Amino acid sequence: MSKQILSAHFGNPDAYKLDTYVELGGYRSLEKLFKTDPGDVIENVKQSGLRGRGGAGFSAGMKWSFVPKDVDKPKYLCINADEGEPGTFKDRKILVLDPHRLIEGAVICCYAVGIHTAYIYIRGEYDTPIRRFQGAIDEAYANGYLGKNIKGSGFDLDIYIHRGAGAYICGEETGLIESVEGKKGQPRPKPPFPAVIGLFNCPTVVNNVETLSNLPYIINEGWEAYAALGSEKSKGTMLFSISGEVQRPGVYEQEFGVNLWDFIEGATGGMKDGKTLKAVVPGGSSSPVLTAEEARNTILDYESIAAAGSMLGSGAIMVLSEDVCMAKALKVITRFYAHESCGQCPPCREGTFWLARIADRIERGEGQPEDLDLILDICPYMMGMTVCVLADAIAMPAKSYIEKFRGEFEQHINEKRCPYTDEAAGSAAG
Ligand SMILES: Cc1cc2nc3c(=O)[nH]c(=O)nc-3n(C[C@H](O)[C@H](O)[C@H](O)COP(=O)(O)O)c2cc1C
Repeated sequence: MSKQILSAHFGNPDAYKLDTYVELGGYRSLEKLFKTDPGDVIENVKQSGLRGRGGAGFSAGMKWSFVPKDVDKPKYLCINADEGEPGTFKDRKILVLDPHRLIEGAVICCYAVGIHTAYIYIRGEYDTPIRRFQGAIDEAYANGYLGKNIKGSGFDLDIYIHRGAGAYICGEETGLIESVEGKKGQPRPKPPFPAVIGLFNCPTVVNNVETLSNLPYIINEGWEAYAALGSEKSKGTMLFSISGEVQRPGVYEQEFGVNLWDFIEGATGGMKDGKTLKAVVPGGSSSPVLTAEEARNTILDYESIAAAGSMLGSGAIMVLSEDVCMAKALKVITRFYAHESCGQCPPCREGTFWLARIADRIERGEGQPEDLDLILDICPYMMGMTVCVLADAIAMPAKSYIEKFRGEFEQHINEKRCPYTDEAAGSAAG
């Protein structure tokens, strides 16, 4: 059984209430925090090995250390609760079931970096999480855990909810910043990074909900305790959103370093209805697909999944059985990225559209033999060519679907139909 840090309270229906959270040991870290030098807090978080859980896996402590110390501008924290990556549904668990853990984490981050204003950007559809989190903010203010002079420390922090309007691109940190500023969510070129020039052109930390929620444990137990969990370079635990054809889809916390498929099988009960595993998408729709064999032979950590040619991303594991048509799967994700491209960079605007159009005709049985190489030709022109990595986020998986399941795509083209439906070319439902 893996150590449970983030999900420890998920089974307690009252843990979202301040009184219960405090009874369970919540906000305990603040006493220790306010006696520690902010620079030492940053150093401890660095030493813990905590990496961002929003997708990129960048060291949290390192990111904070990039924020300039002596500036006469305000600094900001943007908590990323956009949770837009298809397949990801773990931040909402924290917001609904354990919101004070995130508030406590935000206080720790803001104290360390010298921030007095935080915005949480929550996707607009998350109505229950928004209401729950607002309730927790109100309780925290009423009990001195937010606002002026938190628990007599002399430290002030305000948190505001900013409700998103449903664009995937607003989960990208600079798109998010633009959106909080009231503009269209178009990513900004980097550098400068938000740590130096971010929200309202001021130094800004952007961290994911889950990343920040690890902080109370790190302060309470010490960075050594956190660093002792996991594997060599992937420390701690992670919340995995497991969906697809498994018996018990859900959010499961797991320490890094175990076998990927053993974890999925153990947590969810394995494939449902006796189906056979075909593929695993390990880190949200942006991550290249793994074959069943790769999934069975890969260790669950950042480095091993990268070595297998994919990425851990937001920890959204999607399990595909032999009944899933890979051409249809590619069609669905390419359509999503084409729809969500903000349009400012031509390789993304045009590339996502082309990929979607080609994937669609292949799935309908109207593809041409040269379409598969055409997809493989387009992808390199989309990678590393744009302001943000949305284009990469579809080019990488698209390439992997064709390379690993080419035979299935060829079958669609040769038979001029989708072999997973009985319909002939041209009549398959879109
Ligand atoms: C297109 C796109 C969408 C993203 N969506 C999210 C998101 O919904 N939630 C999130 O936390 N990070 C998302 N990210 C990653 C953020 O840009 C950023 O790396 C993250 O919020 C930093 O926090 P972390 O270091 O704690 O992971 C997205 C990135 C891209 C390129």
